[in-house]
Amino acid sequence: SDDVQVIFTPSGKRGRVARGTRVLAAARKLGVDLDSVCGGRGVCSKCQCTPSFGDFPKLGLHVDPDAVSPINAVEERYDRIRGLKPGRRLGCQTEILDDVVIDVPPESQVHKQVVRKAASERVMEMDPATRPVYVEVAEPDMHRPEGDLQRLSQALEKQWQIKGVRADLDVLRMLQPALRKAEWKVTVAIHDAGDGPRVTGIFPGVREVPLYGLAIDLGSTTIAGHLVALDDGRVLASAGVMNPQIRFGEDLMSRVSYVMMNPGGDQEMTNAVRDAMGDLARQLAGEAKVETGEIVEAVVVCNPVMHHLLLGIDPVELGQAPFALATSESLEFAAREIGIEASAGARAYILPLIAGHVGADAAAVALSEAPQKRDDLSLIVDVGTNAEILLGNKQRVLACSSPTGPAFEGAQISSGQRAAPGAIERIEIDPETKEPRFKTIGNEHWSTDPEFGTPRITGICGSGIIEAVAEMRMAGIVDTSGLIGSAEQAGTPRCEPNGRTHEYVIYDGGEEGPRITVTQGDIRAIQLAKSALYAGARLLMDEMGVDTVDRVVLAGAFGAHISPKHAMVLGMIPDAPLDHVTSAGNAAGTGAHMALCSVKARREIETQVHQITKVETAIEPRFQEHFVAANALPHATAPFPELRK
Ligand code: FES
Repeated sequence: SDDVQVIFTPSGKRGRVARGTRVLAAARKLGVDLDSVCGGRGVCSKCQCTPSFGDFPKLGLHVDPDAVSPINAVEERYDRIRGLKPGRRLGCQTEILDDVVIDVPPESQVHKQVVRKAASERVMEMDPATRPVYVEVAEPDMHRPEGDLQRLSQALEKQWQIKGVRADLDVLRMLQPALRKAEWKVTVAIHDAGDGPRVTGIFPGVREVPLYGLAIDLGSTTIAGHLVALDDGRVLASAGVMNPQIRFGEDLMSRVSYVMMNPGGDQEMTNAVRDAMGDLARQLAGEAKVETGEIVEAVVVCNPVMHHLLLGIDPVELGQAPFALATSESLEFAAREIGIEASAGARAYILPLIAGHVGADAAAVALSEAPQKRDDLSLIVDVGTNAEILLGNKQRVLACSSPTGPAFEGAQISSGQRAAPGAIERIEIDPETKEPRFKTIGNEHWSTDPEFGTPRITGICGSGIIEAVAEMRMAGIVDTSGLIGSAEQAGTPRCEPNGRTHEYVIYDGGEEGPRITVTQGDIRAIQLAKSALYAGARLLMDEMGVDTVDRVVLAGAFGAHISPKHAMVLGMIPDAPLDHVTSAGNAAGTGAHMALCSVKARREIETQVHQITKVETAIEPRFQEHFVAANALPHATAPFPELRK
């Protein structure tokens, strides 16, 4: 007959096609995920596949080498210039001549599983909303009255079966020059997250490099972002900028009060954060050596106050009970509206919020850490100026946020700074001699190593201050109430008077500076922050009716750097076996990354947020009780049997 059988691996999809059908066409017909940017013109090489020959007893098939057409001139040329791996063929050139088995390697699948190295290796599923497609658009002539967009749309329908494409005004404004400059041969970025196709970028000729997207974790103190390749999800650059809203108030509630007290204050803050988003996009593009115009999508996660301020919504309702959100659903809009510099037409997506105080950042943590998929009980703490805390398992997930303040990020600390080269990030204090040794970011040697060299020491970052306070406690320099002893009490001349209290000198650079110390005020700031964190976790445990958890996950832009032991010495987290305390890196950022790479992940979290129960810390009297009780180092409310080991 003129029909032949084709079986695709690894999908196992099979069917009959007419003899002479090209592999790409057969894949389309059978719903096999085989990539193509150029639409079968033999230039993008995305359609690579491997015909398999020999006996396939399980399939009851024997495949002869002449079951596919021999290499043609297009493939030969491609192989000469770029090289094809042995056995590989271009699916758009290869004709199926007899029964055959065709393997589609992962790199030729749009929807693929990729292993990404973050803090932990994880498998991510690619299901990007935006894909590049190459089209040749008919040139206008006097006899055809339709516009350029309509001719582009017809070309997309004919060459790609993409129907009814839409375009923003921004895209329309650049459409005509872009088409003419590229002589009507363009690669169009098509965004479709289930709401119909849209043009979100136009690039000349066949685009051989991927499109890019931004995953942004917008925190109260720091805005962290990744620039991601949308074909396989790899991160090409990561960067962070300070949130410029800090000048209006260090924590969220002081920013809400700023708005209440200053007419137009919300607009000021909106402008400030949007400017920073633009800076971040430029910085990331610069680092990855791409143009901002090649960025076609962004995903943002943030807490509710940042969410409203970014979108230009007055956050005043979030400052008072019942903490009503303007909307809790996910949103999609033009990226330019929130200041992101990207292609004309680029889209931005914000994850849904869980409640008035529990934001899209917590939703992102739920997406990346997925406590709802585990049998054991996980406590996940995303440490930041506002901490997001999740407690749960397959049965139930609870969430709250806790206003820890910026101390954990090195702010409000006398020698504090952001994690950057020169910042002290590790510290040990000898319990006998009370002498410190430390490591700074950018220098792999301890300060006591001869190789330490000429040190560049600029301050102490969040993880550094946590270790410093915990080490001071363990060396007896600080008592359980958090008081720093005098030189005699602590037994070290490093404890020097500072006003009516004492400070511990970690490093004294003399005339040249700097002088890095931990003051009594620093200890108090850390005590407040850790009590808030612990009280939030404890409140969720009360609500769940448990006294212990199976595992603790420390997350946050810098959560990955916090040492579990020191966190427990401080009583930041409930007692648990040390080896059950892990760090997840920036889980909110990872969640943003996953949502950027996958429409399926977006749908998943949109459903899941409805199943997360939020617990409101602000109006819960037990939160205050736990907070006060947790002030000691470690706190006095619960025993820490694991710590004594
Ligand atoms: Fe582009 Fe085959 S589809 S080379």
